[in-house]
Amino acid sequence: MATTVGTGGDMPTVIENLILLERDAIAAYDATLERLSDATHRTRIAEFRADHDRHLSELTLMAPRYGANVPTEGDVKQYLTTGKIQIANLASGDSPILKAMSSNENDTISAYAHACDNPVVPAEDRPIFERALADEKRHKEYMDAASRTS
Ligand SMILES: [Fe+2]
Ligand SMILES: [Fe+2]
Repeated sequence: MATTVGTGGDMPTVIENLILLERDAIAAYDATLERLSDATHRTRIAEFRADHDRHLSELTLMAPRYGANVPTEGDVKQYLTTGKIQIANLASGDSPILKAMSSNENDTISAYAHACDNPVVPAEDRPIFERALADEKRHKEYMDAASRTS
């Protein structure tokens, strides 16, 4: 189902939902890093995971400016964790894992695209979301190409 993350009617909602999504994405990256066998793919996925860490730090820094809560890892377990479970349930093989990761990136791309278009996001904070959107698109491009050749 298409994500509604990024469409929130106020900044605290936008930030809190993006934090939940990022934590879920990072859990899926960790599950992926444990399972990928190709060293080149592992190196690239580890770099992308670092992008997600940066996204999470930027959102965490933004949160107090808007009185947003910073959801914890425990909160994520209640709401999401679909990405991680999906990866953990996959039969081994780099190609299906990378394909599943690519489909997770559809949600991160949509979420940041929504945030970039959301009128509740002040212009000064939009570049953070635009940069994250570009990162997520780059992640998906690699995963799509890599899943075809693995
Ligand atoms: Fe991210
Ligand atoms: Fe990503």
